[in-house]
Amino acid sequence: MTPQSVLVLIKPDGLQKAVAGEVISLFSAGDLKLVGLKLVQVPLKLARAHYGHLRGQTFFAEIVDYLMGKLHGNNPVVAMVYTGPDAIAKCRRIAGATNPEAADPKSVRGKFGRVTTKGVFENLVHVSSDVKEARREIKLWFRKSELLA
Ligand code: TYD
Repeated sequence: MTPQSVLVLIKPDGLQKAVAGEVISLFSAGDLKLVGLKLVQVPLKLARAHYGHLRGQTFFAEIVDYLMGKLHGNNPVVAMVYTGPDAIAKCRRIAGATNPEAADPKSVRGKFGRVTTKGVFENLVHVSSDVKEARREIKLWFRKSELLA
């Protein structure tokens, strides 16, 4: 199987809930190589670019605020890149379904996520959806020099 790279973000609710360590442990079960890791205080431009494909959605403004930490005490994001065989599917399985209420209870989102009374999915992590998105997102979040070969 050809190796893939994938962007994984622990969003500001993960830092506010102080579960970043547990989340990283859960991703370690994927048997993948961690090649990049940093804390990012997300600016508006980056948040809007990250969710650019969802610009038309009713929840767009909310998820931009969410990624910037505005809903969670201005906390930053832990940005990571994992590589290895089937990395995207493995990380998406560990993350669980987009809606935390529908997510496997043992997944990151099932364990730590919630749906707010306003209906926003506070699902704690982002994982690239496919190879093309992963390439775009990794370029957006990391310089080449910040990633291990
Ligand atoms: P999306 O990229 O579709 O999901 P995923 O993160 O699982 O790839 O959606 C981006 C984020 O938007 C998602 O993590 C949570 C939020 N969201 C909502 O708040 N409500 C919704 O109905 C959907 C589809 C997403």
